Amino acid sequence: MTLKKIITADNTETFLNESVGESYHSQTGAVEEALKKYALPCKIKELAATGKIRILDFCFGLGYNSAMAISIALEENPDCEIEVIGLENDLLILDNIQQVNPPIPYFEHYKQLTPTNLELKKGNVIVTVLLGDAREKVKELPEKYFDAVFYDPFSPKTMPELWTVPLFEAMYRVMKDSAILATYSCARMVRENMSAAGLFYDDGPIVGRRGPGTIATKWI
Ligand SMILES: C[S@@+](CC[C@H](N)C(=O)[O-])C[C@H]1O[C@@H](n2cnc3c(N)ncnc32)[C@H](O)[C@@H]1O
Repeated sequence: MTLKKIITADNTETFLNESVGESYHSQTGAVEEALKKYALPCKIKELAATGKIRILDFCFGLGYNSAMAISIALEENPDCEIEVIGLENDLLILDNIQQVNPPIPYFEHYKQLTPTNLELKKGNVIVTVLLGDAREKVKELPEKYFDAVFYDPFSPKTMPELWTVPLFEAMYRVMKDSAILATYSCARMVRENMSAAGLFYDDGPIVGRRGPGTIATKWI
């Protein structure tokens, strides 16, 4: 299978996965989405000021969301310790990190991530991609560990198995009590499943002309 490169409305690149029938980012703007749907609602700048951030990049893909968060965090606090754990099951998309050049300052370091090197360590930053089915890999993660979760599977219509109550329960387990989860979807089923897992949800930002995303927390 090959992936087809496309240019989104903010003039940044992503890929279309023709066998899934979806692109890896919103066509309204791939980099804009990383910033406005993930880094900003998860308050990465504020977390950077505390000196330490742990991020779960759920469905890592090309890694735009966490690369954007690292860029913002280091701009705010160059000494910030940052740990990113990415979950991804497809080596092909990881291989395609070499084919894109989004205007995300930290992304140049993400080029070190390849199908044969799934870890990047540089100064106070460590990024590890755990390869395999995210539904299983999440069970290996420690409890109450993450400050922010970027929840970015393909859509609930295409992959309902990645938006289930047990998966949101798994997110609840690995989130710190203060953590924020952000996702692009505002589907009713997604929000109901979050609630059933004990999470509180609210509208996330509206980006482009689409509906809002969703943010979820363990507190109201
Ligand atoms: C919407 S894309 C994520 C885009 C990504 N966040 C980025 O910035 O490039 C969804 C990703 O989920 C991955 N995926 C699909 N099913 C998965 C599964 N069961 N476990 C882990 N990853 C999965 C796909 O390979 C794809 O990279």
